[in-house]
Amino acid sequence: MASQNISLTRYLVEQQRVDGLIPGQLRLLLEVVARACKRISLSVNKGALGGVLGTAGSENVQGEVQKKLDIIANEVLIEANEWGGHLAAMASEEMDSIYVVPNRYPQGEYLLMFDPLDGSSNIDVNVSIGTIFSVLKKPDDHPGVQEADFLQAGCKQVAAGYCLYGPQTVLVLTVGDGVAMFTLDREQGSFILTTDKMEIPADTKEFAINMSNMRHWDAPVKRYIDECLAGKDGPRGKDFNMRWIASMVTDVHRILTRGGVFMYPWDKREPEKPGKLRLMYEANPMAWLVEQAGGAATNGRERILDIQPQKLHERVSVILGSKNEVERVTKYHLET
Ligand code: AHG
Ligand code: MN
Ligand code: MN
Ligand code: MN
Repeated sequence: MASQNISLTRYLVEQQRVDGLIPGQLRLLLEVVARACKRISLSVNKGALGGVLGTAGSENVQGEVQKKLDIIANEVLIEANEWGGHLAAMASEEMDSIYVVPNRYPQGEYLLMFDPLDGSSNIDVNVSIGTIFSVLKKPDDHPGVQEADFLQAGCKQVAAGYCLYGPQTVLVLTVGDGVAMFTLDREQGSFILTTDKMEIPADTKEFAINMSNMRHWDAPVKRYIDECLAGKDGPRGKDFNMRWIASMVTDVHRILTRGGVFMYPWDKREPEKPGKLRLMYEANPMAWLVEQAGGAATNGRERILDIQPQKLHERVSVILGSKNEVERVTKYHLET
């Protein structure tokens, strides 16, 4: 538990000044993203009263029917970030191609990617949802910005985090020096540091996977889950619990808080796709947060943060969380 009333701004100034970890422009960018998340939280909390539930009647580049809040959250993040001078361009789950900061605004040196509203299937049933974001530096070897500038491995991120719109609105962030959690104090209107170092236990008794896909899984995933289900009389010698919220941001937050393993693996339903989740604005930011908290994140065979992206919206198989469990699942994959 953090000792005193440290705001996000003070925390970032200390990371910037004391540790020299983040340049002023990056601090400004993160403060703008946090303010945008506060705005999104207000819309989320209005629900039916704000006319934000239900579908927008359009489809996104992923082939998903967009919810009204998907679009609202996307617009809030674009409008909040485009004029500040710290960004060159943005990319989003909800936009086909990149959004280059208009010429009327100063161009910055950062690239921002986001899943503006993660867990959309939970919006209309009042279950926790969130915003996931990732920051890269724009390559400085050429003028202007193009989509290829975003195609950097996750290990190149300079900041990553999420805002979880749950019973509390919490912002969880890493700039490469561990994972900090801030809780929104609505009276002050600011995010207050409530955990200065989130850590994932190496072992766990809790797994998160959508069990309805069991018949479609590959053998290593099936083997791992069967062993968990066999309980204390099985090869693992302990009983496991299962959780599946269907909001990655909520499942990952639980794992950062008390451990666990989260899996959205490749399955036979769409064999040509490596998985359901998107690399650039879901898997990469979450993988960095998990590693910064002492956990691990692979696609079953290699570290997610080492994957060289080929396309902006490419998908990836995700296994992340408690280090010893992720290593076990990965070992099972590498044995095949
Ligand atoms: P999004 O709402 O941004 O499209 O992401 C939803 C993702 C992720 O949040 C969650 O873990 C997963 O979809 C749930 O998938 P299933 O509904 O297939 O379980
Ligand atoms: Mn979606
Ligand atoms: Mn998502
Ligand atoms: Mn989304």
